Amino acid sequence: MQTFLALIVFCLGSVVCINVIDLSSSNSDVTWTFESKNGSITGQGSVPGGIYSDLQKAGVIGNILSGFNDVASRWVAYDSWTYTGRVTINQIPDTDVAHLVLEGVDTVAFVEVNGSPVGSTNNMFVRYVFDIKSQLKASANEIKITFVSPVEAAQLRSEKHFAAPECLPVVYNGECHANQLRKMQASFAWDWGPAFPSVGLWKPAYIEFYNSAIIRSMTSHADKVGAHWDLKIIAHLESSRKRKQIGGRIGASIKVNGGQTLTVDRAFESTTRDDGTSEAELNMTISENVISLWWPNGFGDQALYDLHLRFTSGDSKETYAIHKQIGFRTLEVVEEDISLLPCNDTAGPGLSFYFKVNGYPIFMKGSNWIPANILPELSSDKNTVDELLLSAREAHMAMLRVWGGGVYESDYFYQRCDQLGILIWQDFLFACSMYPADEEFLETVKVEIEQNVINLQHHPSIAIWAGNNENEAALRGNWYFTNPQFMKYKKEYVKLYVDTIKPIVEGLDPGRRYVASSPSNGKESEEEGYISEHPYDPHYGDTHYYNYLLDNWNQNIYPKTRFASEYGFQSLPSLVTMRTATNNESDFQVDSPYSVHRQHSPGGYGFIQDQMNRYFRLDKSDTKYFEKFVYYSQISQAMAMKAETEFYRQSQADWYTMGALYWQLNDVWQAPSWSGIEYGGKWKMLHYFAKSFFAPVLVSPRLLLTHDVDIYLLNDRFVPITGGIITVEFFNWTSTTPMRSILIAANADPLSSIKVPLSIALWKEEINKVFLRFSLVADGVSSSPYNYVFPTPFKSVKGLRQPNIQINVLSNIKATTDGFRYTVEITTDTVVLFLWLETQEPGRFEDNGLVVTDPRITVNYVSNKQMSPKDLEKSIHYDYYMQE
Ligand SMILES: *[C@@H]1O[C@H](CO)[C@@H](O)[C@H](O)[C@H]1NC(C)=O
Ligand SMILES: *[C@@H]1O[C@H](CO)[C@@H](O)[C@H](O)[C@H]1NC(C)=O
Ligand SMILES: *[C@@H]1O[C@H](CO)[C@@H](O)[C@H](O)[C@H]1NC(C)=O
Ligand SMILES: *[C@@H]1O[C@H](CO)[C@@H](O)[C@H](O)[C@H]1NC(C)=O
Ligand SMILES: *[C@@H]1O[C@H](CO)[C@@H](O)[C@H](O)[C@H]1NC(C)=O
Repeated sequence: MQTFLALIVFCLGSVVCINVIDLSSSNSDVTWTFESKNGSITGQGSVPGGIYSDLQKAGVIGNILSGFNDVASRWVAYDSWTYTGRVTINQIPDTDVAHLVLEGVDTVAFVEVNGSPVGSTNNMFVRYVFDIKSQLKASANEIKITFVSPVEAAQLRSEKHFAAPECLPVVYNGECHANQLRKMQASFAWDWGPAFPSVGLWKPAYIEFYNSAIIRSMTSHADKVGAHWDLKIIAHLESSRKRKQIGGRIGASIKVNGGQTLTVDRAFESTTRDDGTSEAELNMTISENVISLWWPNGFGDQALYDLHLRFTSGDSKETYAIHKQIGFRTLEVVEEDISLLPCNDTAGPGLSFYFKVNGYPIFMKGSNWIPANILPELSSDKNTVDELLLSAREAHMAMLRVWGGGVYESDYFYQRCDQLGILIWQDFLFACSMYPADEEFLETVKVEIEQNVINLQHHPSIAIWAGNNENEAALRGNWYFTNPQFMKYKKEYVKLYVDTIKPIVEGLDPGRRYVASSPSNGKESEEEGYISEHPYDPHYGDTHYYNYLLDNWNQNIYPKTRFASEYGFQSLPSLVTMRTATNNESDFQVDSPYSVHRQHSPGGYGFIQDQMNRYFRLDKSDTKYFEKFVYYSQISQAMAMKAETEFYRQSQADWYTMGALYWQLNDVWQAPSWSGIEYGGKWKMLHYFAKSFFAPVLVSPRLLLTHDVDIYLLNDRFVPITGGIITVEFFNWTSTTPMRSILIAANADPLSSIKVPLSIALWKEEINKVFLRFSLVADGVSSSPYNYVFPTPFKSVKGLRQPNIQINVLSNIKATTDGFRYTVEITTDTVVLFLWLETQEPGRFEDNGLVVTDPRITVNYVSNKQMSPKDLEKSIHYDYYMQE
């Protein structure tokens, strides 16, 4: 047997160190087992982990994401499970404090150490710290965590504290009353995901030993005052509950530009709260000359600075240190009278709603983030997080909304957002429900909000806090038949998001805007008592918009908004991705039981079909019906999101629309959903399109109902567009040679959208024979994608013909940091629509779903595999749109 393993956190000179015993299952001194309630199922447990992943590893259940396994394995969620950890400690450190720290317990559980109860848990977003000094023995120790079935726990609470809705729509195949538990709301199913009501220790667990106090976390506030930054650092200290005072020295150091290290150090003495916590504050004044600003992606670099914080106890001389990276930027959410803005004659009454970063109003381009995995213990997987965030960055996104039905993401996630310049709109984790407001619920919410705001606050990427997802709109709109009890629910709403959460957030993080809901009317909702008359009012705040009944490629259907924080359209994932869930050929039909099972949006396939039918003709008797359905659904989604996103970008010119975050970036399983990236990481056509429709400089046309085409010039840069010439080329469908062209001089201010004062009129007789291509040359603009107007649906265009396509991989392979870059040359003798390139080789095309209007184009292919150009060339196959 192994002796006690001391993991040294931080030691300076000869001072005493803080000892930690890591309780994760990767520590060979610890063994974890799990057991079902009646003991009939047992196996090796994982920490961090969870019951679904452990049962898969033990071979008790199969791949949870294949076939109908979400429902087939649901019994797991109805049983109760016990995790038992055994750790031998030969010598217990002789310290005042011995704490069992559980960073994440999912969710309702009882904790025992060596047979004695030490506490219970009811919130998976809270760190639990239990005093186990009197339970630990210098020999074998047993830590036992008994989880109550989350489905039963939710049901039980609901009987006492019911809050609407009664349950989810039947097609979700989900479980009811997720709102009763402080647990990832989507783990009881969503319209894009399966139910896996998980249990387990989903984050690290450890025992810590010390005498005085430790720094649990740190918050920092950087305010720009004249030519320097006032940096206020707060160490959040924790000690034993018995301790009344903490004292000693607190010091910080930060390495700034030019290799200089600034330090500050002082003696302090503070009184602790009942729970043993306290704070120590430090101030630093830093000249702006030694600091580079942190910018969102696309607007500058992401300068980050290492901040070290050290506490030395006055009595025990123990030292504890932590380290974080911080950034220096100013960020405000500006909600001011719209009449003060330049487009005040077209923007109606109301307030603006935009983000001003380092003094500049920035149009926020991005998407909505759902958990990277349906099992919370896997959602922090670094490769997955990296792949998704890098994909977002590549598509010029500067903001992601971490949606309220998921989790507070891992530290790694926010660190990567800091490094990649992805601002985060952080919802608190309440979504699409009314919530109870009983004492027990509010008490645990308080701890949750406190801990998570303290943990996340220092990240420069966090831009705004929102109390919940859509709950203001849901109550006002009577989504869950709450009207008869409107006043009761409103009172509870205010109690939770306004009386409980808001003061905690504003107290800990005074510099950041907290809005009670997303969407909301911002300040206007506040004036109207937090449940405004019309939460989707286009004159205020943010809005969500979905409408499957109208033509989603038609920009004229979209309502104006100050900030679009959600909008989307569904598509199916590729067959390649679907095959990771089923290999049963009979499943690949739109109406197969399998396809029906995976479509959680009521009427979902019908909505996709309606959109497709507007533009394409697809006959049910087509032998490739399902393949084409998948392909057309991805085109429909990509084109709809392009139309809507460009509408919002254009509307900066006349309505001061300042954000477009489409729903949704990623997926948790292989199913029809609103995502641009499939489960497993494959990009749908939408994500490729996002690279273009979010391009910093873009000519963006708007086809009006009159067949006139307005032209906007979008400039998301700090420099103006000067010397700009927009070329509008008329093509017929038969040739890559334009028939004629028009040149328009156009310039644009920095960070603006302008409407070019010249519209193009299309003749009614020509609309099915021509399409328009837009491009830009301007001083200092190195690239701006082509844009197009297709005046009539593809099914009725005249002259589109079968292309002769040649694919040729050139021999100039480049080794890059992302792998090997191959140049794929594509030649054609006519226009090709939505050319979709595929290969079984690992890697990714840098562009896809191409509208080809040049006789020769090249596309890069990046792979970490080195292969001969010929082998890659042979592996490439493709698809494109042809009329039936
Ligand atoms: C134990 O519980 C399982 C459900 O987890 C049940 O199927 C099984 O019949 C039970 N076995 C006994 C011996 O009670
Ligand atoms: C596979 O095919 C059979 C027969 O058509 C069907 O009953 C079953 O539901 C299919 N799908 C899966 C995922 O098992
Ligand atoms: C830090 O500065 C604030 C005001 O900016 C002041 O109230 C506070 O006392 C200062 N703290 C310390 C430890 O100097
Ligand atoms: C509209 O905006 C312009 C430019 O910012 C300003 O000069 C003008 O006074 C504004 N009009 C009103 C009615 O506030
Ligand atoms: C299509 O455009 C090409 C190139 O301008 C031209 O040569 C051809 O005659 C046109 N075809 C039709 C049917 O208009």
